[in-house]
This record gives sequence, structure tokens and C-alpha cells, in this order.
Amino acid sequence: MKKIPVILDMDPGADDALAILLAVKSQAFDIKGITICGGNVSSDQCARNAAKVLNFLKVDIPIYKGSYRPLTASPKISDYVHGTDGLGNISSKWTYNEDLIKKISATDFILETLDKNPNLKIIATGPLTNIAKCISKNRPLMSKLKHLYWMGGAYTCAGNVTPVGEFNAICDPQAAKEVFNSYIPMTVVGLDVTMKLMLPKDTVDTLAKEGNETAKFCREILKAYFSYYTTYTSKPECCLHDPLAVLVCLYPNIISYSKIYKVDVSLEGITEGQTIIDRRPSYKWHNKDFLKYYEKEKDNFKKYGINEKMPTTNIVLDLDFKKALEKFISIVFK
Ligand code: BDR
Ligand code: CA
Repeated sequence: MKKIPVILDMDPGADDALAILLAVKSQAFDIKGITICGGNVSSDQCARNAAKVLNFLKVDIPIYKGSYRPLTASPKISDYVHGTDGLGNISSKWTYNEDLIKKISATDFILETLDKNPNLKIIATGPLTNIAKCISKNRPLMSKLKHLYWMGGAYTCAGNVTPVGEFNAICDPQAAKEVFNSYIPMTVVGLDVTMKLMLPKDTVDTLAKEGNETAKFCREILKAYFSYYTTYTSKPECCLHDPLAVLVCLYPNIISYSKIYKVDVSLEGITEGQTIIDRRPSYKWHNKDFLKYYEKEKDNFKKYGINEKMPTTNIVLDLDFKKALEKFISIVFK
């Protein structure tokens, strides 16, 4: 099977780490590089965390550091979810290869790679700062990106940082706004679905006891993350937010319900980071096959710009959660 050329843009983070494990172990991707954005913890620490996961996997994928700060908002981190180091407070035990962290910037790497790979897709599982910067630097080139998958936003449900704000969106609302208003075809998984894809702690513990090396690794890096979600949902489990972005890229058939919407992002006050979709019934463009719709409309997007009548984002609203979890477990712990 032909591998999908991809860049992972992320802020590892426990569930970003799971997304790396899934993407690498699926063997379905030609991963050109991992670009890092500050988010869950600092950009430097996120890069080290990515390198530690790659070291565990014994693969050499280059890592490129990107934005330290959001475009305009003040930086926020979520060490209270992932642990102070972003990987369960235990990652000093795990070594990494410093040489994997390259000198070239994330944005330069993304643009150069896209120039050479017309079928490139990006799976983003952190704040969208790097992607927005690439759009500002070279919009015509970024409009050639085949697809952007993003874990972020809360479209029909509550937020997880504020009443309406999801972490990746609220970390850099200006960047999210700019990306949603670009010409890039986008599929997003927000809290609407990621809060329903739960990994039971028991599954990891049992596999670890049986000697599964990846489960042993996960048990450590997920320590803080499991404990946060166990308090949050009152069950011993954790959310597979970021792995879901990889899963929908890999298995689009698991999606049972998605709609194409125009999305905008609030920049201020109590609604800062809210990802607002236009659900007015008179906007009836929604239920189409996204790729066909996008192919047909993309010249109009370029000609007339994006306005409120032009939905561009495919929002995943329901899926086969059982199958998604089965795929995750069978690939990651194989
Ligand atoms: C998102 O926030 C981060 O803490 C996770 O890594 C995930 O990308 C969920 O809101
Ligand atoms: Ca993340």
C-alpha cells in the first residue's frame, strides 16, 4: 500500500505521544517530520518529548521546533493535565537523541516539504500557530496542501478550559481564526467526538502485566493524564483526543456523521477561543461529500475569498467509537 506523506504538527503532551505511536506503528504514513508548537508545555520540552517517544520506537524522524508563543494571545500550558514535563512527570527516565531536533524552523520545514510533495497532508494536534505562520509566509503554496486534519475546537458541546473554549483553540485563537479562513481543506475532530473516545486504564495495565513493551511505556507516560481524566469523568480512563485525528485520516470510513461548516473563532472575553459554526438553517450546504464539494468550490474560494456563505471545514460529529478504539489498541499495542 502506498504510504500517505504527512507531517505531524504537535505539542507533545501525553495524547500527542499516543498519536505518534499510532502514526508510526500503523506503517501507513511516510512521516516527513514532526513540527513542534508550544502548547501543553514549552516548545523545547515538547520537542524533547517527541524525541523520547521516537527513541522508544527506535525510529529516526526529524523534529523541527516552531512557535514558542501564540500569535497574539498570552501563552497557556496544561501541565496540570499531562504532568510538569508533559509526559507524566517521569520522562527524565527516558533518554533521547538530541540530533533528531534540527536547527531549521518548523515553518521553513513545512513550506519546503510541501513544495516538494504535492500530496502532503498535515495532522495537527496542538495550537495552530505554525500553520497560521506558514499561511502568512506563503499563502499560495499553503493553498496546495492536500488536507489538514486538526484535533481542536468544541463545535456543538462545552469547552474543556473555559465554558466554550477547547485547549488547542484557546491557546492560539488568532491562529485558528486565520487557518479556518484560509483555503485549506480541513477535517476537524473537536471535543464533540474526542471526549467520547476513551481508553480504559485497565487495558493498558493488563497488557503491561503481560509484558507488552508499548503498554509499559504508556503506563508511565500516561500516569498524570490518566489521573486527570479519572477525576474528570469519575472513571479510570483517558481521552484519545489526538490519536483520533490520526484515525480519521487513516480510516475515514469510521466517520458516521460529518457536516461542512463555515467556522470562525472568537478572540476575546469569556468566549475567547470558541469555535463558532454557522448552523442557521438557511445555509444548506452542509451535508455533501466534503472532498467533492471542496474540489468543485475551491476556485471560487480563491477568486472571491472566504465569506460567511462558504463553508470550508468538515466537522466530524459522530463515528464508530468501538471500531476506532479497536483500531487504536490493535495498532499501538501490536
Ligand atoms: C487537546 O489539548 C491538549 O491538552 C491535548 O494534547 C489535546 O490536543 C484536547 O483539548
Ligand atoms: Ca495536543
